[in-house]
Amino acid sequence: MDTERKLRELTEFLRIPSVSTLPAHNADCRRAAEWVGKELLRLGCRNVAYLDDDQHPVVWGEGPEVPGAPTLLIYGHYDVQPPDPLGEWTTPPFEPAVRNGQLFARGSADDKGQVFCLLKAVEACGRPPVNFRFLIEGEEEFGSAVLFRLLEREPERTRADAVLVADMSYVAPGWPAVYTTLRGLCYAEITVRTAKTDLHSGEYGGAAPNAHEELARLLGRLKTPDGKVQVPGLYAAVKPPSKAELATWRKLPFKEAEFLKRRVQAKALTGLKRYSVLERLWALPTFEIHGIKGGFTGEGAKTVIPAEATAKVSLRLVPNQKLKTVERQLAAAVKRFTPKYVTSTVTFLHGADPAQVRLTHPAFKLLDQAFREVVGRGTVPARAGGSIPIVPALGKSGAPVILTGIGLPDDRLHAPNEKLDLKQLWDGIEVFKRFYELLGSMKTG
Ligand code: BES
Ligand code: MN
Ligand code: MN
Repeated sequence: MDTERKLRELTEFLRIPSVSTLPAHNADCRRAAEWVGKELLRLGCRNVAYLDDDQHPVVWGEGPEVPGAPTLLIYGHYDVQPPDPLGEWTTPPFEPAVRNGQLFARGSADDKGQVFCLLKAVEACGRPPVNFRFLIEGEEEFGSAVLFRLLEREPERTRADAVLVADMSYVAPGWPAVYTTLRGLCYAEITVRTAKTDLHSGEYGGAAPNAHEELARLLGRLKTPDGKVQVPGLYAAVKPPSKAELATWRKLPFKEAEFLKRRVQAKALTGLKRYSVLERLWALPTFEIHGIKGGFTGEGAKTVIPAEATAKVSLRLVPNQKLKTVERQLAAAVKRFTPKYVTSTVTFLHGADPAQVRLTHPAFKLLDQAFREVVGRGTVPARAGGSIPIVPALGKSGAPVILTGIGLPDDRLHAPNEKLDLKQLWDGIEVFKRFYELLGSMKTG
């Protein structure tokens, strides 16, 4: 394999700062889309198009017609999360660098490196064994609104015998996985207002309400110290994993103590202690605070009582919760915990229903076989804590959505020093090439 050329190409892709949530990077998102489009043309695709390009465009392409062969839809995303805090990167996020066989860059694992892997596997096949369709979007990291609208309008784009998504990781080095669920997401801003304007904390302190204090109290009520989310009704729809599924999780190469020490690197784990860590990560809803703004946070000191404060928060949802229901429940909980003299508002930024996949389709066996042949171990079924909003919509036509990936659990997605192990990438290209070939020999209809 010409690894040097490939590394050069991937580096070019990773250099483009396609941060979808920051308007300043709109042109970069466009450039990343065009990079993908050019690759698709090189692979011999027809009808390469940038769809709905008033926003970050969705890149579409159709591989050469292979009569009688199955159709495989490949989904991925070319957008990335913001790279901050910049100071914590050993080398800059958009200047890809290789150290110890690992490629460091924002997007190396999530998801540009994996999109690259799927495309290079197509290239490695030479003559395509299946009818490829590509749907590579640029808004996954902030809710996929454009793609949702596109697929509502043109659901035939998802017509396929199988859908392949590589935007996840192995469960441990040497242990490839296939995922049966993704968590959903409900992302919101909670704003509290306590007075007309900010007030001098000497003149008014002791008698005037403080927006930060009210917000802190409100947020504190939304989750108990032992990790129960206090949104009334939230757990009602949660479907607990079966005994059999829990038994398979116990056999995974996952040790809670190692998870704390090597991955989380904190002093203790939190959350509902009567559930295993994997249950907490995969099968229970969460409530997280992402940031709080308002008041004075500049250099030095300012004595002020802030009149307004906003928290960015999100809940992760699990089967069988519904986004719409959880939005209502959160809004009601905030209202209930807001004192009469405070005004609170909840604004929903984006969200996703949880996804569930059954592993019954024969394509899952073929992926298992491809991994077995190339890396010496087949896929273990697992669940994912993260979300990919569009997944339920990708499966609407009835095609199985294969959720897998070539990353490793310590790739630091969304964090400083995100990386991809190059061995994972080179193996991955072989794995997917083999998978495409096996799928090509499968009977359709
Ligand atoms: N690739 C991730 C999702 C993921 C991460 C799945 C880890 C399984 C394990 C994806 O790019 C992502 O980060 N999604 C966002 C979605 C949100 C912004 C709508 C997420 O999960 O926060
Ligand atoms: Mn991703
Ligand atoms: Mn991501």
